[in-house]
Amino acid sequence: MDDHEYEQLLQYAKQFSGVTDDMENTLQGLYGRVKPHMAEVTDSFYAVLLDIPKAKPFLVERIDALRETHIKWLESVFSGPFDLIYVKAMYRVGDVHVKAKLPVEFMAGSMALVTTRLHQLLGTIFKDDPKQLMESVTAVDAILGFTLMVMQQSYESSRLAEELEKFLKITGMSRTLFDNLASAYKE
Ligand code: HEM
Repeated sequence: MDDHEYEQLLQYAKQFSGVTDDMENTLQGLYGRVKPHMAEVTDSFYAVLLDIPKAKPFLVERIDALRETHIKWLESVFSGPFDLIYVKAMYRVGDVHVKAKLPVEFMAGSMALVTTRLHQLLGTIFKDDPKQLMESVTAVDAILGFTLMVMQQSYESSRLAEELEKFLKITGMSRTLFDNLASAYKE
């Protein structure tokens, strides 16, 4: 992906998820309160994943390293900014999962798990403040949806690249000829 495509992805994911500057401020404002709980959120996340037979083999023997990585990522959800740098980073994370051959549904499934756990945590923190609870939950949902869109785009790009490889192999067309035809068609 070039910078223009990343910028397009940033705008596209923002439109769908509805992430705003206010939400970014809300999330940053929560950082200090949620940070002490990121380890327990992560542990409960992995406890569920380890119970899923299809997911377990991807985790055993590297759970400690993954746990640390995951905690750092969760902290980044409450740090921002959700700009081009964040999009590039999360696209790369998506790509790491593609290369590790994780099924695509793991992304949406695990994001649902994180969402539930963060809702539970925020529910405890703001049990006496429904307005703040609603504001926090809305911001968390938006940024997790945003992140999921970016990570899944890596899967889509990889699928398209595989299809193209297959097409070139079947037709015997060179990559150069394909690129020339594609850019002529664009014009
Ligand atoms: C909310 C969803 C998830 C997020 C945000 C996430 C985040 C990350 C991050 C930040 C990395 C490190 C990437 C790097 O090398 O810089 C990573 C690697 C990895 N994740 Fe995830 N992950 C998610 C879901 C999952 C799930 C569901 C599994 C497996 C069941 C998984 C398995 C792995 C594995 C195996 C690696 C290491 C790949 C390698 O180094 O070859 N992840 N993840």
